[in-house]
Amino acid sequence: MYTFGLIGYPIAHSLSPWIHTTFLEQVQLEGTYELFEVAPEESLQETLGDLMKKGVTGCNVTVPYKEKIMPYIDMIDEDAQRIGAINTIVFKDGQTYGYNTDGKGYVRSLESRFPDVFAKDVRVLMLGAGGAARGIYSALLDKNCQEISIANRTLQSAEDIIQMNDKGITSNRLTLKEAEDNIAAYDVVIQTTSVGMKPHEDTSIISLKNIRKGTIVSDIVYQPIETTFLTEAKSLGCQIHYGHTMLLYQAQFAFELWTNTHPLIGSMDEKLQQILEGN
Ligand code: ATR
Repeated sequence: MYTFGLIGYPIAHSLSPWIHTTFLEQVQLEGTYELFEVAPEESLQETLGDLMKKGVTGCNVTVPYKEKIMPYIDMIDEDAQRIGAINTIVFKDGQTYGYNTDGKGYVRSLESRFPDVFAKDVRVLMLGAGGAARGIYSALLDKNCQEISIANRTLQSAEDIIQMNDKGITSNRLTLKEAEDNIAAYDVVIQTTSVGMKPHEDTSIISLKNIRKGTIVSDIVYQPIETTFLTEAKSLGCQIHYGHTMLLYQAQFAFELWTNTHPLIGSMDEKLQQILEGN
């Protein structure tokens, strides 16, 4: 019997219980996924101790604790260390192990839609330099990229992320205007900010008017499923990738860590789209 859960505050409308119980059914394991809301005045250390005593197998960590929880984790994997945030914990033999599956999940979701995306050296442009961008940048460093550049409103934040680059991959920081002007140089463009999210769905971080036809354009915003940014990309002949699939693949990674099984995404993609669209 597995017990998984989510640590965060506040926790409203999480999709994780649905995703993980669907995985459990698929691999024919018994278990539950619970929501562990931890108020700001509560101790994360005590919460982790309580969960360990309760026999919890593993949990996810969400806002606002992804960074704050790090000092209380016994072993942190290299990737999570580099990112500076944890979204998945495994409880094993009285120890806590911390991982970050967000960026890796994102890259897996991109590869599931475009299996050959990293087959040849690609030039990637990321828009935004927040927490999500950090995870994605770290995961991209393990792929076949000729260039991973970051455009952001605040250049220093892009610069900080680029410091993670220990692979010698070309990585430039650009202003959003430079990204707009030079976008034709890139094979993959990834929008990592919340710009375009409901209720501001009419906004776009940059114009894509100079983009090359056939460029892969991805947006991690999934409310709405198709952002204005992706609609513009589609109208310019680009190949688009919807952000909601990232939720499924980061969960798949976490589930693998907890159970050592490999659930398939299959039709969960369409089902998740329906849930997000309120159908
Ligand atoms: P998350 O952790 O979810 O990625 P975050 O850390 O708050 O969120 O990061 C927000 C990102 O969105 C940043 O890159 C931010 O740009 P700045 O670093 O310049 O603040 C970007 N962002 C947010 N609102 C924006 C806007 N209206 N225009 C351009 N960039 C925006």
